[in-house]
Amino acid sequence: MIFCPKSSLSVKRVLIFAIQTKTSVANSVMKKIFFAAVVTTLLVVFSQSACYYDNELEQYGVSECDTTAVSYANDIAPLIQQQCISCHTPGGEQESTPFDTYNDVVLYTVSIAERVNGIGSIMPPTGKLSTCNVSIIEAWINAGAPNN
Ligand code: HEC
Repeated sequence: MIFCPKSSLSVKRVLIFAIQTKTSVANSVMKKIFFAAVVTTLLVVFSQSACYYDNELEQYGVSECDTTAVSYANDIAPLIQQQCISCHTPGGEQESTPFDTYNDVVLYTVSIAERVNGIGSIMPPTGKLSTCNVSIIEAWINAGAPNN
């Protein structure tokens, strides 16, 4: 991961700097023009800086992790497909309990909630899911693991 300031923080910093600059310039027409120029320049500079994020939590920030109305079909099944199914299917690379269908998965919700938090051996074995993905799984289980 390459360090990159959270974009919302950067924008805040730009605005604070611009406001400070604004108050320090003499009261004139130039003031407004100068203020606009500073904001535009700094926003352009920040928007051009190359950022690389390796998960959605860093990319969108915690507030963008939507755990309301989590759906099995739209959220859980694709996540399992991506992160778990390579092993959790008959004939998988490390064959283990199948999670191919809703009926398979719903039997193991307690165990899944534990494993994605590293209680027992961590799942997936390659490393913990992002905080957002763990929250999505927990939200679904806490809602009663609906087949929605
Ligand atoms: C690289 C292969 C691999 C991946 C990927 C993987 N698992 Fe596993 N998992 C295993 C193996 C092997 C076992 C059986 C050994 C054990 O219990 O640790 C297991 C066991 C489990 C169990 C216990 C099952 C039982 O029968 O009690 C749960 C729950 C589980 N995994 C959840 C997950 C979840 C959720 C994911 C995806 C987020 C995942 N695993 C991804 C290999 C994997």
